[in-house]
Amino acid sequence: MAESKRADVIGLPLDRIDGRLKVTGRATYAFEYATQGSVAYGVIVSAAIGKGRILRIDTRDAQHAPRVLLVLTKDNAPPQTPWGPVDLPDRFARAEPALDTDEVLYFGFPVAFVVAETFEQATAAAAMVRIQYDPMPGDYDLHAAGPSAENPGRIDGNGPADSAVGDFESAFASAPVQIDAHYTTPHQHQAPMEPHATMAAWEGEMLTVHTSAQLTTSPQEGLARTFNTPKENVRIITRYVGGGFGSKLPYYVDATLAAIGARTLGRPVKVAMTRPQVFYTTTHRTASEQHVRLGADRDGRLTAYGQEALVHCARFDLFTEPVCDAARRLYAAPNRLTRHRRAKLDLPRSDSMRAPGEAIGLLGLECAMDELAEALDLDPVELRLRNDTSSDPEQDRPFASRHLAEALREGAARFGWNKRVAKPASVRDRRWLVGLGVASAIRGDILQSATARARLENDGKITIELAMTDIGTGSYTILTQIAADTMELPVDRVTVRLGDTRFPPTAGSGGSFGAATSGSAVLAACRKLKAGLASGMTESLGSVTPADLDEAYSHAGFGAHFAEVCVDRDTGEVRVRRMLGVFAAGRILNAKTARSQMIGGMTWGIGSALLEENHVDSRFGSFINQDLANYHVAVNADVGAMEVVFLDEADPHGGPLGSKGVGELGICGAGAAIMNAIHNATGARIRDFPATPDKLL
Ligand code: MOS
Repeated sequence: MAESKRADVIGLPLDRIDGRLKVTGRATYAFEYATQGSVAYGVIVSAAIGKGRILRIDTRDAQHAPRVLLVLTKDNAPPQTPWGPVDLPDRFARAEPALDTDEVLYFGFPVAFVVAETFEQATAAAAMVRIQYDPMPGDYDLHAAGPSAENPGRIDGNGPADSAVGDFESAFASAPVQIDAHYTTPHQHQAPMEPHATMAAWEGEMLTVHTSAQLTTSPQEGLARTFNTPKENVRIITRYVGGGFGSKLPYYVDATLAAIGARTLGRPVKVAMTRPQVFYTTTHRTASEQHVRLGADRDGRLTAYGQEALVHCARFDLFTEPVCDAARRLYAAPNRLTRHRRAKLDLPRSDSMRAPGEAIGLLGLECAMDELAEALDLDPVELRLRNDTSSDPEQDRPFASRHLAEALREGAARFGWNKRVAKPASVRDRRWLVGLGVASAIRGDILQSATARARLENDGKITIELAMTDIGTGSYTILTQIAADTMELPVDRVTVRLGDTRFPPTAGSGGSFGAATSGSAVLAACRKLKAGLASGMTESLGSVTPADLDEAYSHAGFGAHFAEVCVDRDTGEVRVRRMLGVFAAGRILNAKTARSQMIGGMTWGIGSALLEENHVDSRFGSFINQDLANYHVAVNADVGAMEVVFLDEADPHGGPLGSKGVGELGICGAGAAIMNAIHNATGARIRDFPATPDKLL
């Protein structure tokens, strides 16, 4: 790029800045840090009961195993701050103590910790820790616990648990066309490629923690709380992360125990969770029961629109998946009802997994819309168009921008939707039944707080620093583009440094707010520096807060998913032949990384429709699937042709950058489009996700 030229690189499909480092193995992940060969290896011992008490732990054999340095249990763990507080506004900054109780709260609960010279020695010794339990009966089944579910009052970050507009019950009862359907979705797990891992080291009172996390500022505060030390004494370093998807919003006992081990031994300690521990000890997405009721007039205008959800929450926690959040904003209807109920179970914590709320809420809602279209004998695209709305139907404010109708129309034209045969089971291709399906996508859009530093170096280059993470999404790349664009410099004159709490604080990566939030802070810092260059400024700070998104408007990204599937008549096997996602997500910051985010989300839609499920063995409270051999996610062989289109959407009220989140929008509705295509192919309505072959025979 010629230096004299205006940079203008925001939006370009720039290759990842960190791509070469990653594919050549030079991007260092948390577990790969080593300090001068002195590092020791810790292994977590997980409880083998679902609920109960530890009566006795015998560590003698483990302690005498070769080159074991430390065996920690509740009997000798140092004092720490108790877990919580449960109602801390930033739940990811809670104290996360380890081995401070004889209670077992869920299967896989951490109950001992072994440190040795090598990983293998620690693993071998961990197997020698003998634990006697006093097991107690636990509640593990969401459906059984349904009748005792509680009203959570509020759902996470999304307002009241219940909402009501007009008179839903009478409107539904008197609607000429009614859909009344129950859907279930199973427990789901993120299982990122890089397991949760930490290396911790102390220098005096200073704790340095290399950890695989989506956030930096929150675990800094949380570990400081755990160890009752000022947060200035804790430094979190997170340069590269091999996926998080929500499961790395919290930090876990791998960080706590690595820190305790390092302090006790006076040398660095690293800890990686095993894959089963990722399934047990970290968060997962709750199973859900959804009751969707839609009432419409004969023209297909919704008169009553209701969704009620039952989810689980760990016995000791408060999280409530906001399943019905999408229902509050997706379509117009004068009479409305949403309701969240939560059952406490003796399971690991449920918390955010990619698009918490919408990802599973739309499975029920958008399949019910397909059922309604069929009952009305109306095209499913047309049904959605007839119920579009330019203002938020439950709040008295317009959408800042909403191009759902455009996405549906554009997608229908590109996908060849007019070739769809409305009558199910009409199209055959040898032994396959072929069908098309559609679903809408919506994902709420927010800004969080962040500050960034921009510095002019002596060689004329610009350095950007902020405590943001790149969890594989492309943060390094888009922030480089924003800085280059604002400073009017080529991208190779900008260096972005992330993942260190020594840099200005940010809200990190999560909730699809990462790019807009950190990007807006970088934009502000660069604008300030640029304006100050003439007067000799060499360094600036720029910030953004949630208030930078105009509250007079409702903010969300929209889209439309189209899917073509074929179903084997004899085996019930479903293949996804084609998917198309058309999205309106404001200004696109990098066409390539944004497209990759959407492809990832849509691929996850295949998983949620066809593959992903976990179940609890009610005898032990244990998840049956604990690894990627048994917990099936969509892989390359499951993905047919996939196309992503971004509409040109300018959002003048969309914050400093005018961008919207793309991390989660791609999964929202994707699974419903596939399920609706299965119905079109076969005539079968599967309301229990996923649509495994047994349900199609
Ligand atoms: Mo997202 S589920 O907040 O990483």
